[in-house]
Amino acid sequence: MSSDMSEHKKAVGEYAAERFIDSGMRVGLGTGSTAVHFIRRLGELIADGDISDIRGVSTSSQSLLEARAAGIGVFDLDDPTVDGELDIVVDGADEVDPQRNLTKGGGGALLMEKIVAHAARRVVIVCDEGKLVENLGIGFPIAVEIVREARLTASRAIQRLGGRPQLRLAQRKMGAVITDGGHMILDVAFERPFDPVAMEAEINAIPGVVENGLFTRCNPHVIVARADGELSEMKPAARS
Ligand code: 5RP
Repeated sequence: MSSDMSEHKKAVGEYAAERFIDSGMRVGLGTGSTAVHFIRRLGELIADGDISDIRGVSTSSQSLLEARAAGIGVFDLDDPTVDGELDIVVDGADEVDPQRNLTKGGGGALLMEKIVAHAARRVVIVCDEGKLVENLGIGFPIAVEIVREARLTASRAIQRLGGRPQLRLAQRKMGAVITDGGHMILDVAFERPFDPVAMEAEINAIPGVVENGLFTRCNPHVIVARADGELSEMKPAARS
């Protein structure tokens, strides 16, 4: 990643904190190298007294540690003061298609990310323009979180759907990546375009699949950091 691109990730993450967060909100804290800038800026806004009474809900051990370091109060989603509902979540994405369907899970946090997005009234995605694609799952594999016992059976079922699954291996530990929820991840590449809505449901119908990284139902507001340094937006359809 160029240093320019990391500057762009910082700019879009910080912008989301300044534009979308107000005092008193229950806020989902996304995961990844873009969302981290949102968390850090949110911490600064709280420390400066610009906003107060924020209840954060983390989507991963990464965002939990970052939120603690930034001085943001972190709660469980089922804490009585959060009550399973969030005003907003700000998170990153691996790919975004023109209909604002997403893939997530490059950081292995897709399960909690999807639960938090489901709980949030508003989903804001921060990303750089390299994430914009015509078709999901071809340039960047789709993460599928599975229970260990289903590694072979789920892999074969995914192959029948046209995907090529590969067990995600850890970098500084021998063996598989184990998620925050204690599961394994299959990274599934596709050669041909598919219907993301149908594929999200079909993968999740395979026994042993806990969740997959296709996000087709969260109607996100996408903020894109462009290579020229400007931000552009893909806005959600108005709710009827
Ligand atoms: C983690 C995610 C991330 O949001 C996604 O991988 C994007 O990360 P980054 O902003 O570092 O490119 O889904 O599970």
